[in-house]
Amino acid sequence: MADLLGDMRRTHHGNQLGAQDVGSEVVLMGWVQRRRDHGGVIFVDLRDREGITQVVFNPEISADVHAKAHALRSEYVIGVRGRVDHRPEGMVNPNLQTGAIEVMITELRIFNTAATPPFPIEEEAEVSEAIRLAQRHLDLRRPHLQRNIILRHKAAAAVRQYLNGNGFLDIETPVLTRSTPEGARDYLVPSRVNPGQFYALPQSPQLFKQLLMVAGFERYYQIVRCFRDEDLRADRQPEFTQIDMEMSFIGEEDIMAISEGLIAFIFQEVLGVTIPTPLPRLTYQEAMARYGLDKPDTRFGMELVEISDIVKDSGFKVFADVVKKGGIVKVLNAKGCVDMTRKEIDDLTQFVAVYKAKGLAYVKVRDTEWQSPIAKFFTDDEKASMAERIGMQPGDLVFFMADQPAVANEAIGQLRAHLGRKLGLIDPNAFAFTWVTHFPMFEWDETEKRYEALHHPFTAPLEEDYGRLETDPVSVRSRAYDLVLNGFEIGGGSIRIHDMDLQSKVFNILGMAPETYRGKFGFLLDALQSGAPPHGGLAFGFDRLVMLLCRESSIRDVIAFPKTQKAACLLTGAPSEAAQAQLDELSLRIKATAKV
Ligand code: AMO
Ligand code: AMP
Repeated sequence: MADLLGDMRRTHHGNQLGAQDVGSEVVLMGWVQRRRDHGGVIFVDLRDREGITQVVFNPEISADVHAKAHALRSEYVIGVRGRVDHRPEGMVNPNLQTGAIEVMITELRIFNTAATPPFPIEEEAEVSEAIRLAQRHLDLRRPHLQRNIILRHKAAAAVRQYLNGNGFLDIETPVLTRSTPEGARDYLVPSRVNPGQFYALPQSPQLFKQLLMVAGFERYYQIVRCFRDEDLRADRQPEFTQIDMEMSFIGEEDIMAISEGLIAFIFQEVLGVTIPTPLPRLTYQEAMARYGLDKPDTRFGMELVEISDIVKDSGFKVFADVVKKGGIVKVLNAKGCVDMTRKEIDDLTQFVAVYKAKGLAYVKVRDTEWQSPIAKFFTDDEKASMAERIGMQPGDLVFFMADQPAVANEAIGQLRAHLGRKLGLIDPNAFAFTWVTHFPMFEWDETEKRYEALHHPFTAPLEEDYGRLETDPVSVRSRAYDLVLNGFEIGGGSIRIHDMDLQSKVFNILGMAPETYRGKFGFLLDALQSGAPPHGGLAFGFDRLVMLLCRESSIRDVIAFPKTQKAACLLTGAPSEAAQAQLDELSLRIKATAKV
């Protein structure tokens, strides 16, 4: 094939030309966004990575070139040479960066034709995500996805710049490795040369980064892919990217300060937004008490209030019984919502049922009157105490949730987040950060009948709680911290255990016998005995962070080639069946073929 490009080379991008360039000869290259014929003159919106420029084919300038331009269709790939001119009066487009000018074309080269795209390459294209993902190369041509991917690049560049400047070393860690427990299932990779044996893809580089501290590198970072086989949601992907960091000879304050510096730098570089530091902090206890969730959206108030003490002896059996059985009663005051309809309240009741709530009692405050199916169960004193604590005023609608703390907090916390959105209490331009600290070290897993690490098993307990490690593990707090932005957990980390005996003790509490933890984590225990410095770190979820920087609601919109909710890549058709010969080579036999 002839070299279509020849000596033609681009002089400008689609966003660059303006009135100052009028009269100069330029070369542009890109895709035909739109072609319009206007009484003999053909207009083409030429799109490239940076923007759109209007180019004009006029038969009076060149009849040949004009004739050739008749062939142009959407998404054809072309190069044009021409002279920049002012647009005629009244034709200036203030919505376009290059809207003051057009380019009068004297040479056209068609580099490639294009099949008609299955959906228009436009911002507003109303088309299902499945179709878009199957043709992701076209989808990615849409301006807002281009913007997201470019912003992602800028954010990554800012991360590197900041961390390089603060003494961090970028060190790679293996992808074919052993299981690193972060609470999800592993992706396994069979080993051909070791039949019957498997690698696990890393859920995070946790143990490697700790070993790098033992090795003496002091400050490590990596923008690294992690793999977790877990149920997917809008903010979760089976493979995702972390900004992973670890530091030696430090405590919580140092990690938080570096992280805040990093966040502020990214926001400044990428969005030009100044994030005031230090960032606010909440303990886990406070977060649960005030918001019901450990990742509270602090862009709005509507904080929760507990009234267990007021209703524990009340005539409303549901509440009194729950409190007597160790549960709590929490309320949320939807101020001014007294006119919410029965249907809306029923919908909210169904909403909380998803979080296992058994009901959603409510009180409407009209004048001083309580309109409520449960009003009759309370004495005037109880009502007065509630009204005072909750700050009830005429016009309010107050919701009540009674259950064991875990269920009650989750359900009413999610209700708060839901109402915040539904009632328009959230400033869409706000960035509300908060640290959440002092997480519990363990939680009891009722199905497995054993303790689980809330962060991961390498997290250090708070020193003042050491004494209760064996006697009352659930009361022990850890040195873990999360960073929350607008209700999303964007990062988490901890100070680690650097003492072999303490690490063994924690494995024991997690129900592992010495043979088990020696087998799985012997290499870590050996390292801890070989001169391990005090160390700790944190990992940001890079996709989530970029999603929030882009003001998107799904991380799929900030990942070039994301997977679906069923962990499939619709573009390439992964995952797919393996050929028999491949299975034989790997000594694998498929037990049953699940047909989808
Ligand atoms: P953690 O498990 O909290 O900690 O992960 C760190 C951050 O990664 C993001 N994240 C995800 N993002 C997209 N899809 C997923 N499936 C997904 N899972 C997690 C979250 C989360 O805050 N090794 C520790 C860090 C440490 O202790 O230093 C770890 O991986 O934003
Ligand atoms: P009942 O006595 O079951 O008819 O419930 C009366 C009201 O209390 C209804 O509005 C229920 O939705 C509500 N309710 C029932 N159980 C709970 C609970 N555990 N927490 C909050 N409200 C509840």
